[in-house]
Amino acid sequence: MSHSKQFKYTLDQPLAPNIPGRMLARKQQSFTDPHIFDHEMASIFDHDWVMVGRSGSIPNPGDYVTAFLGQRPIIVMRQQDGSIRTMANYCLHRYVKLLEGCGSTKSIVCPYHCWAYKLDGELMGVPEREGFRPDDIEGMALETLATDEYLGYVFVALKKDLQPVSERLHPLGLVLKNFELDGYEDRHVVHEEQWNANWKLIYHNFIESYHTTYTHTKSIGPANPTKAVEYGPTGDPNFTIHSNSYIRDHLPDIYNPHLDEDERKRFYVTGVFPNGLVAVEPNFVWWMALEPKSVNQTNARWGVSFSHHGMEAMAEPEKFVEEIVNVIKIATTEDKAMVERMQAGANFGSQKAGLLHAPLEVHIKEFDDYVMRLSGS
Ligand code: FES
Ligand SMILES: [Fe+2]
Repeated sequence: MSHSKQFKYTLDQPLAPNIPGRMLARKQQSFTDPHIFDHEMASIFDHDWVMVGRSGSIPNPGDYVTAFLGQRPIIVMRQQDGSIRTMANYCLHRYVKLLEGCGSTKSIVCPYHCWAYKLDGELMGVPEREGFRPDDIEGMALETLATDEYLGYVFVALKKDLQPVSERLHPLGLVLKNFELDGYEDRHVVHEEQWNANWKLIYHNFIESYHTTYTHTKSIGPANPTKAVEYGPTGDPNFTIHSNSYIRDHLPDIYNPHLDEDERKRFYVTGVFPNGLVAVEPNFVWWMALEPKSVNQTNARWGVSFSHHGMEAMAEPEKFVEEIVNVIKIATTEDKAMVERMQAGANFGSQKAGLLHAPLEVHIKEFDDYVMRLSGS
């Protein structure tokens, strides 16, 4: 039986028993108070797996992306043995940030005094070495962070003793099994895009499909209207998922032969807490890994990846990729405009809480419950 069948609730049915009839939005201060932001970085981003992007972005030894775990700069590097290692992105001499952006390298060389490190972070070269005591610099290595991969995504954590991502996201993996997301090809990746909004507002926006008809008028709204949303219940502490069905006139050509009838009609919208967002369409995936910068600024790392089974079956894969990337760029622009307006509105500083739609915004409540569980507020 396909696990996607669990999405049987639609707007014209009574609420599922585990969805409260009345739900409040977070208060405005949650998006504007720098103390709350600092506390979230310490209590959430320092304590859980954080998504940094697709492992396919760094296929060969020496390929790397730099990212942030909360506010901490990190390097995610493909190793000689094919594994991925995450290291603190600062020099052991006097803390200069070692690498910027993404690329490929044979070693990591600090631009300040040229201390050099192997791909696994071991210190190998120190100019004017005689000025240091040998036993001080011997065996020095960049700090390593816990790293895991699941469904083609890389996760990083400061804590070493967390449950592996594959176990923790196993129920999500079952729902998305037939898509075989590990094998998707990244065809469009934006590593840096500043959104002038609190990270939670961007998260909230991605995981609800109430706004699709009203905001995405020039992109995905007509094919995936609000009326076609089918929702949870999810009830999982680590992720949320719902589906947005295609309306009949807009059913896409399905190229991935591994999908069942049910999966061919849906667009799954998932949020992997705290910062990963993945929308899985029969032919492609639109993902985001949020990097909070300050209380009202977030780097949105995002991309569009395509099923290689699907691409092989297409007559003109490049044309298809170009069309889809264009649609998703428009959808992203539409979302960005709205979340920046939410931030602007939240600056009023009212104590009055907004309202969440039951059931269409129950996914926001699931995320807010997660934030509450880890941060206490
Ligand atoms: S700070 Fe890196 S070599 Fe001096
Ligand atoms: Fe959206």
